[in-house]
Parts: sequence; C-alpha cells; structure tokens
Amino acid sequence: MARPPTDTVSTGPGQPRAMTDDALDTLLASVSERVTPDAAERERLQAVADELAVRAEVAIDELPVEADTAKVGSSARSTWLAGDRDIDLFVRFSPELDREELEQYGLDVGHHVLPDGHEEYAEHPYVKGEYEGFEVDLVPCYAVDAATDIRSAVDRTPFHDAYLQARYTPKLSEDARLLKRFLKGIGVYGSDLRTAGFSGYLVELLVLEYGGFRPLVEAATEWHPPVEFDLRRNDDDDGAAVVRPEEQDAAAFDDPLVVIDPTDPDRNVAAVLSESNLARFQHYCRELLADPREELFFPEPTEPLDADAVQEHIERRGSHPVAVVFDAPAVVEDQLFPQLRRSLEGVRGELDRRDFDPLRAATFAADAEGSDGNGDGTDDAESWGRAVLLVETSVESLPAIERHEGPPVHVGEHARSFYETYADDQSIYGPFVDGDRYVVERERDHRTPEAFLCSDALFDVALGAHVESALEREYEVLVGEAIAELADEFGSELRTYFEPRV
Ligand code: CTP
Ligand code: MG
Repeated sequence: MARPPTDTVSTGPGQPRAMTDDALDTLLASVSERVTPDAAERERLQAVADELAVRAEVAIDELPVEADTAKVGSSARSTWLAGDRDIDLFVRFSPELDREELEQYGLDVGHHVLPDGHEEYAEHPYVKGEYEGFEVDLVPCYAVDAATDIRSAVDRTPFHDAYLQARYTPKLSEDARLLKRFLKGIGVYGSDLRTAGFSGYLVELLVLEYGGFRPLVEAATEWHPPVEFDLRRNDDDDGAAVVRPEEQDAAAFDDPLVVIDPTDPDRNVAAVLSESNLARFQHYCRELLADPREELFFPEPTEPLDADAVQEHIERRGSHPVAVVFDAPAVVEDQLFPQLRRSLEGVRGELDRRDFDPLRAATFAADAEGSDGNGDGTDDAESWGRAVLLVETSVESLPAIERHEGPPVHVGEHARSFYETYADDQSIYGPFVDGDRYVVERERDHRTPEAFLCSDALFDVALGAHVESALEREYEVLVGEAIAELADEFGSELRTYFEPRV
C-alpha cells in the first residue's frame, strides 16, 4: 500500500500526543472541579479564620507583652483542598522574649482561643484544637526581621507565606491544589517524617517554578536526581523577604531533590522527601501522561489483608518472615518513625551479616485505639498500639558451624597468632589450610533468625533510643505463618507488603 504524503498523515507522532493532551486537560478540569473550594466554603473558612484572629487579639491584650497574629498555610493562600478543614494561625512575639516566656504566653493565647484544645509539641509547644468544625493550630513564633534570623523553625512560616502571597495567582493556586491532590493520591503528600513526602510549601514552590501543574509533571519525568532549584534566580525585583543569590550562596545539600528556600538559603525545602518518594512521583508523572485517569488522584482505599491471605502469601513465597513485636514507645510521630526505620535497618543489616539473606523488610506502628485529639489537656506524647519490625529472610536455618577465614599463611606474625589462637581449641574444626589461608570452622552463634532476635545480641544492633528501651521492657518474636496474627491490627500494611506496588 502506498504511503500517503507526509502532510496528510493522520496518525503521525503528533497525533496520539494531542489526543492524550486533550484527555489530560479534561481530567485535570474534572479533578479541579472536585478540589476547588466553592464560594460558601471559602466564605465560611474566611469567617472562622477572622473570628479566631479576633479571639487571639483579645487574649494578646491581656498579656504584659506585645504580639500580633498572622494567618499562614494553605488556608491563608487559598491553596487548600476542598473539604480540608485546617487553619494555621501564628502569634508573633518580640524576639526579645526568652523562650520560656514565648512558650508560656503562646500557650495562654492558645488556650484562650481554643478552650477545648490540647498541647502538642513541635520545636516548642503550641495548642491544637477544634473550632467550629475546623482543626486549628495556634502556633507561637518570634517576629524576626528575616527568615535567616530565625530562632525556631516555625519562625520561617510567615516569610514563606509572604513570599508566596507576593507571587501567587488564582491559576497557580488551582495548579497547587491539583498537585496536592495528585501527591495525596499516590501517597507522598506530607512533610511529617512518617510520610517523608512533599510539604504544602514545597508543592507551591514547584508549581511556581514551572508555572503550573502540567509543565511540572512533564519536566519531572525527565529529572535525573539529584535535581536542584533555586527560585531566587527568577526574581528581577524585590519580592517579599527574599535573600538574593548574590547576597548569599545556598548551602550544599546532598538530598535527591533540592529546592533552596528562597527566604532562607541554608535550608532545603525538600529535605524530608525520601529518595523512594521522589522516584514514585516520577513514576506516576509518567503514568499520568501516558494514561490520564482519575484513580491517580482519587485511588480506591486499600482493603486490609486478612490472616488467611497472609498465610497464603507466606506459603506461596516459601520465605521465612520474622517479626519483632512490642508496644511502641510514647513519643511523637516525628520521633517514632525515624527510630523505627533506624531499628529496622539495624536488624535487617545484622540478619544479613549473619547470612540469613533478607529479601525485604518493613516497619509498622498502630495508633492506640481512642487516642489523640481527645482534648483532655494532656500533653504531647502520643500513645500508640503495637509496633512491628518485620524482616523476611531467604534462609530459615543455617548449619551449626560457620566458616571463619584467617590470614594467608605467608603473612608471618599475624598468621602465626591466628594459628596459635585456634590450635588447641577442641570446640572447632581446624585450623586447616584452604588455598593460601588458615581457616577454622567454629560454632555459629545463632542458627535461625528467630534465635538471634530472641538473644541479647539483638541489643548490640543500632536501635532507635526509645525503641531500645521499649524492647528492654518486653517484646515478642513471631515466626513464619504466625505473623498472620498481625492481620487484625496491620491488615492494610500487610496488604501493601504482600501486594507491593509503586
Ligand atoms: N506549621 C508549623 N507548625 C504547625 C503547623 C504548621 O510550623 N504546627 C507551618 C508549616 O511549616 C507550614 C505552614 O505552617 O509552613 C502550614 O502547614 P501545613 O498546614 O502543614 O501546610 P499547608 O501549606 O497549609 O498545606 P495543607 O493544604 O496541606 O494544609
Ligand atoms: Mg494547612
């Protein structure tokens, strides 16, 4: 069949692309519809935020010091997702105050504004509570002159807000909402250390850098981490509180994604984003362009896996899972999860060194039933249910002996001392020579992963400090199909473990 002349080709390379573009635009319009707060929601939020600010002003008037309020976060910039009900209100005090005074006055104002609120702890305590159906964070900070003079991490927030307020347009806000919804859909939104994902501020900076959601997504498919952005280069006039590149070099970071904070070049806004979550983001950007679909933004919830299904997986895999199960220590989430991950890596690494050949590992912690947000005025330490360090090994048991290689025979003093150490030891095989080396076969400390986990040697592993104390109190080791008992509490986590996806 003759080829038609090129200018009439109807299925050239440009064509499918154009169709996908249409499909993506249609999808984005429909997602946008779902995540844009309507006028009633905006007015309601505005009214409540104003009311909270007035209540804070009243409380400030009673203090012996000056302070003012600042509405910050997505609710101040109209970048929140429809239906999200959180309001961040900051109270700014003079940097002359010492820390204890700031904390005390901050809490006074917080409790006055939110009578049913409870205290939480970030870098210093603040009050969180419900007000007219909104989750309100009332956070004290220092009114410093520049974000580079901060005394506590929260002092930067009003500068972030000013920076974005000066540059954001309604179109950018719409695109920031799309990006938040997309990141939530794929499970990587949130700068808490459990999620290790993208923060709201990072979302807004990335959308600003690329001028929109779509150009960002298209570019991200081509990123080769580490990738670095310095938005200060884009400013040709004085925006709000920007430290310009010629005034201060950015610090050097070795994170996979670096977005220099334009208000404080010593900070990488993407510092908590994990390598895996960046890779996930790139994967799903590609998916979105290849096959635009609503589930990427609004996925079906994961159904928990039941105990029978867990057993089936273990049988089918023929592997040897072992789990250390204990009561999670009562520390805040941002402490707990890094400690759990460090402990897991310690245990996994040690099982690897001991030749049990780990396939995969995961850690979980359950929220205590009925805990948190109870407004009972108790403080910050969160209560959790059980925690799990799960390692799936390839090797179920090893011989009673292990090979231990000495130095080559020709290395003289060193070799002789090795030989003499073992020469009269009746408990070992050897020393004998294999190739040019002395070798002995000696008794192995632990023949199974569970024997190691049940021994004191577990405590020689680098564990998170609070995890270590929790284990010193009590722990249990589950082996093989017995881990199915975790399905009651950790069904969703086990689904993710046994049916892994990007
Ligand atoms: N913030 C803080 N301490 C808190 C709550 C918020 O310092 N207890 C600061 C954060 O650092 C952030 C801003 O307040 O700069 C808003 O935080 P957050 O609500 O997490 O993010 P948003 O940008 O509002 O995005 P979202 O739409 O997810 O609420
Ligand atoms: Mg917020």
